[in-house]
This record gives sequence, C-alpha cells and structure tokens, in this order.
Amino acid sequence: MREFSPEYLTHTRRGLWADSRAALTPLSLEDRTRILDVGTGTGEFAQVLETESPGEIICLDIDPELLTIARSNAGLTPIIGDATQLPLKSDVVDLVTCQALLSNLPNPVTILRRFARVSSELVAAVEPDNAAVSVTSTVETEAEVERRAREAYIAGVRTDIALGDRLPTAFDKAGLDDVVRRRHYHRRTTEPPYDDTVLKAAARKAHGTALRDHHTELRRELSPDAYDTLRRDWRAMGRAVIDQIRNGTYRRAEIIPFDVVVGRVSSPQQ
Ligand SMILES: C[S@@+](CC[C@H](N)C(=O)[O-])C[C@H]1O[C@@H](n2cnc3c(N)ncnc32)[C@H](O)[C@@H]1O
Repeated sequence: MREFSPEYLTHTRRGLWADSRAALTPLSLEDRTRILDVGTGTGEFAQVLETESPGEIICLDIDPELLTIARSNAGLTPIIGDATQLPLKSDVVDLVTCQALLSNLPNPVTILRRFARVSSELVAAVEPDNAAVSVTSTVETEAEVERRAREAYIAGVRTDIALGDRLPTAFDKAGLDDVVRRRHYHRRTTEPPYDDTVLKAAARKAHGTALRDHHTELRRELSPDAYDTLRRDWRAMGRAVIDQIRNGTYRRAEIIPFDVVVGRVSSPQQ
C-alpha cells in the first residue's frame, strides 16, 4: 500500500465531514457501544465517530507514526495492527468502520469478511470514488491535465482506487445483509487569501512532484513520450497557478464523491 504522510491526511480530510453527516445515518452512531475504525491514520474519521457516538472508539492502524497523532485525541483508544489479521476477538465491537482503506488494499472482500467476524452488528466503509472527481479552475488547463493524470494513475495503480459504486457488491460478496449506500460529496475550494498549504501545493505542481511520486503507476499506463508530455503540461499548469496566485485571481473547486456503504452482520462467519 502507498504510504500516507500525516500532512497529506490532515490536508485532504479537512472539511470532509464539516457540512453534512447525513450519509452516516445508516451507521446508527448514537446506538453504538464500541466501534473499531480500521486504517484510522491520524484519526480523521475516528474523531467524527467520537463526536457522534457515545461508544468507545478503538483506532487500528499498521503505521505507528500516524497512530501517535490519533493517540493525541484523548477520546480514542489506539491499537497497532493489520487489517488483514485483526488482533481482536469475534463480536468484540458492534460496528467496524474504515475510511479510504479498502480502495488502497488488494482483496477488499476478504477484508470485509474479517470485519464481519469482529463486529456483532454492523460493518461500514467510506471510500472515495476517484474516477468521478470533478475539478473547475481559473487556470484553463488545470481540470484537463489533472483528469489525464488521474485516469492514467487509476489505470496504473494495482488496487481499486475507484471502487465507488462497486462497493455494495463487495459487501454482498462478503456475506453482509441489508446493504445500503449513501453518497457524500467533499467539496474543496481554493480562493484568496491563500494559506501556506495552497502555496506549497502550487509549488509542487510547478515542480511536477506528484507525477514524480506516482511515476511507477503512471508509466504502467503511459509511454515515455506520453509521460513526458503530461509532465510538461502539468508543470506549465503549475506555473500558471503560481502566476494567478501572485495576482490574486486563482480559484479552484474540486468535488470528490465518497460512498458510504453499511451492511449488517448475518449468521456466524466462516
Ligand atoms: C488513505 S489512509 C486513510 C486514513 C484515514 N482512515 C482517513 O480517512 O484519513 C489509509 C490508512 O490505512 C493504513 N493501512 C494501510 N494498510 C493497512 C493494513 N494492512 N492494516 C491497517 N492499516 C493499514 C495506512 O497506514 C493509512 O493510515
């Protein structure tokens, strides 16, 4: 799995659940006594659970550095562990959750079966539909260049990062019952006055850093020439972003759809 920095997680989750939590209704958070959040990272989703539920929130992650940040929230109980071999007994919680985990791991159905052993009642997953991201920008080329990069990355990455509307099928295959799906939209906007995060993101674009970080996945899909063309267009777009930031005209909006899927644990799991 890709590694995630604390800065990346904090930045990309900012405001994700700020406007509406209606999509979380099927999790019946107010009725939960103990929740396990798997692949919790810095605890961005676990904090939402903690606010909405009277139950104990256990946070599990394979990365101790990220868990240290989750641990700083006094309401969370952190455990270092692997989602593929959960170190917990059957039925020890009444809800297992994950956010942006299944799309980053091979075999989401197998993972969901493990979740169903640990939960006495519900299993829920919140996953971005990366294939359906939309961007608008005052830099004319930004949406188109980002779309090319996103499509090549999705095609080249080894896991299903555009799980999206196939998530309910994964729940069905894992033997979960009464599967429901809700869509939640994360709208991220950039406008003046720009903070440090925006300035850093623009510099990264102009340097082509994100493309370099994902070179392996992109090159599985793109020829050397196509990759070089994308990188040239991407960096030119980044320079245009910096120019507009300098004169205070840069504006960008991105909408990332998230699927919230919830299923009920049925008869004892195999
Ligand atoms: C995209 S991040 C999502 C973090 C958090 N749920 C959020 O939405 O901000 C994926 C997380 O899964 C963790 N992870 C990856 N593989 C794992 C595994 N096998 N078991 C447990 N955690 C894992 C990573 O360390 C990372 O924190």
